Amino acid sequence: MLSNFHVKDLALSQEGKRRILWADSDMPVLQQLRERFQKEKPLEGIRIACCLHVTAETANLVRTLQAGGAQPFLVASNPLSTQDDVAAALVTEFNIPVQAIKGEDHTTYFKHLRAAIDFGPNITMDDGCDLVTLLHKDYPDKVSKVIGGCEETTTGVIRLRAMAKEKMLKYPVIAVNDAKTKNLFDNRYGTGQSTVDGIIRATDVLLAGKYVVVAGYGWCGRGFATRAKGMGANVIVTEVDPIKAIEAAMDGFMVMPMAEAAKIGNVFCTLTGNKHVLRAEHFEVMKDGAILANSGHFDIEIDIVALEKMAIEKIPETRRFVDTYVMPNGNKLHLLAKGRLINLSAAEGHPASVMDMSFATQALSTEFITKNAGKLEPMVHEVPIEIENWISTLKLKSMGITIDTLTPEQIEYLSTWQEGT
Ligand code: ADE
Repeated sequence: MLSNFHVKDLALSQEGKRRILWADSDMPVLQQLRERFQKEKPLEGIRIACCLHVTAETANLVRTLQAGGAQPFLVASNPLSTQDDVAAALVTEFNIPVQAIKGEDHTTYFKHLRAAIDFGPNITMDDGCDLVTLLHKDYPDKVSKVIGGCEETTTGVIRLRAMAKEKMLKYPVIAVNDAKTKNLFDNRYGTGQSTVDGIIRATDVLLAGKYVVVAGYGWCGRGFATRAKGMGANVIVTEVDPIKAIEAAMDGFMVMPMAEAAKIGNVFCTLTGNKHVLRAEHFEVMKDGAILANSGHFDIEIDIVALEKMAIEKIPETRRFVDTYVMPNGNKLHLLAKGRLINLSAAEGHPASVMDMSFATQALSTEFITKNAGKLEPMVHEVPIEIENWISTLKLKSMGITIDTLTPEQIEYLSTWQEGT
């Protein structure tokens, strides 16, 4: 039995195991990869520090890395997203060290990250770039042992590019987030569904007929706006990018500045990756009963410090995951999950079927890094197209879908320029 773990309660492990296996049954691409990894052992002896949301889907990813011969060590990439039963099962049933507890405080969160670094990784697998930043800031001796890393999310890739620009990034990192097999599906359909799920589980609100304000029209915002519309909400989009704003308008959504939307909305959700998207000037004009949620990576999108300052009263835990703030005009504003990402705090994150593609991309990227150790520049790299093609072909097959292929005549046509009007 392992000794280097820190989880809430090992007695939860049977429930965790059931949930891991349930998720696995909807992750056929990762399953197939695990079978190959089991035979070929492409990651033999590689230590992988994984800083990810500790969910049933993540469990199946780390099992795949382990099958490939790697030694994974898992810590949480967010203090509120850990599924404690899954963490317990990974330790007792799969012999994988985990240090993560749902609701852990800031100090414990970083203690766990430091434990993952002390483990001495050859590869880092991060979701949000907290692990990589800490490693670069405080552990210069350990950085030199790392052959490469993978990053799961938009926020993390933005931070990595900033590091690379300042020539601070010391090893190559694959931007898994930027792969089509990741963001077109996980960010759009995963965030779309799980954000609706999180808001509903936290509040039981009926979305039909409500004004839902979506801040940010990237893939996550697009996904959430579409699903909220499907539930009968009147969706308002706020944006700073003119092209995305046109897209939102042509997709049939109302588009306006947050200063206007704040007066109309019943439910607000931020999905921008930026800070203080909802702030004092907006709280001031919001309607009584407004629900405030964030589905971006960090808890900075809603200015909670300002909200705390403005409120004449705070009613904690009005309901699980809801804190209510009473404004000077008597209006009540309900903040969900302390502004942390709602889909993983109040719900279970993205469904397994979509994480199947994201995590197959992660696993194949670790194999790519291992095969190319010492050959890649210390910068942010794209996922190789062969990986994307393999994953999308297998996913289609698992969905029972076949598609057309080009005829020889069509291939010929596409390779010539003479034929025209
Ligand atoms: N990010 C979003 N949903 C997730 C999930 N189910 N597991 C791990 N990371 C996630």
